[in-house]
Amino acid sequence: MGGLTDIRLEAVNLTKKFDRKTIFENVNFELTKKSSVAITGRNGSGKSTLIKIIANLLTQSSGELNLFSDGKKVKKEIVYRYIGFVSPYLNLYDEFTGAENLKIASAIRGISGDNSDSVLKQVGLFERRHDLLKIYSSGMKQRLKIAFSILHDPYILLLDEPTSNLDLEGVSVVDDIAGGYKKDRILIIATNDAHEKSLCDSEINLNKI
Ligand SMILES: Nc1ncnc2c1ncn2[C@@H]1O[C@H](COP(=O)(O)OP(=O)(O)OP(=O)(O)O)[C@@H](O)[C@H]1O
Ligand SMILES: [Mg+2]
Repeated sequence: MGGLTDIRLEAVNLTKKFDRKTIFENVNFELTKKSSVAITGRNGSGKSTLIKIIANLLTQSSGELNLFSDGKKVKKEIVYRYIGFVSPYLNLYDEFTGAENLKIASAIRGISGDNSDSVLKQVGLFERRHDLLKIYSSGMKQRLKIAFSILHDPYILLLDEPTSNLDLEGVSVVDDIAGGYKKDRILIIATNDAHEKSLCDSEINLNKI
């Protein structure tokens, strides 16, 4: 995918309410290739909600969120192709192995080429790929979620508290992947963790908008 496509993600007066409760109001940003942002704010300020809206898993109450690829607006239905997502809410299947979980994910996404071996190596799970997920440790599950998010080589990587449960080696896996993304794509991390924040070049604080 390299440096071919120019992508731009813009939020204009993005507002989210659950029932009548306003979670955040008038969030504005513009992210282009080679940028990274930490979404910060206290517990319950809406970081995960904003990440899910960007991933097109939730809809905003008002305002606009647009993704442009080479200047053309990307249709909502195919936004998922551009986005990799790691979150505590992601469901994995306990009765399948790590490798099978990735195969299921590829099938759902309609990815033809199978690069799951290289991704499993990247996150340090290759040796354990044939173990059932139910015997994975929390850190191993977190690594699998990271593998899942980069499987389709997305342009935008959304990480919600990516280093939770990870050991030092796991944290350095995230550091490497995050470093690679902000070099030529877009990296967005929802976090209050100082180390995760330090991986990003800018910050949107949901308590200060
Ligand atoms: N489906 C829902 N229905 C109603 N309220 C919700 C729903 N999902 C989230 N909320 C509320 O929206 C607010 C923001 O939640 P969110 O998970 O986005 O916060 P956060 O900033 O990620 O918090 P944390 O730092 O704890 O991860 C919270 O008050 C939460 O209770
Ligand atoms: Mg959250």
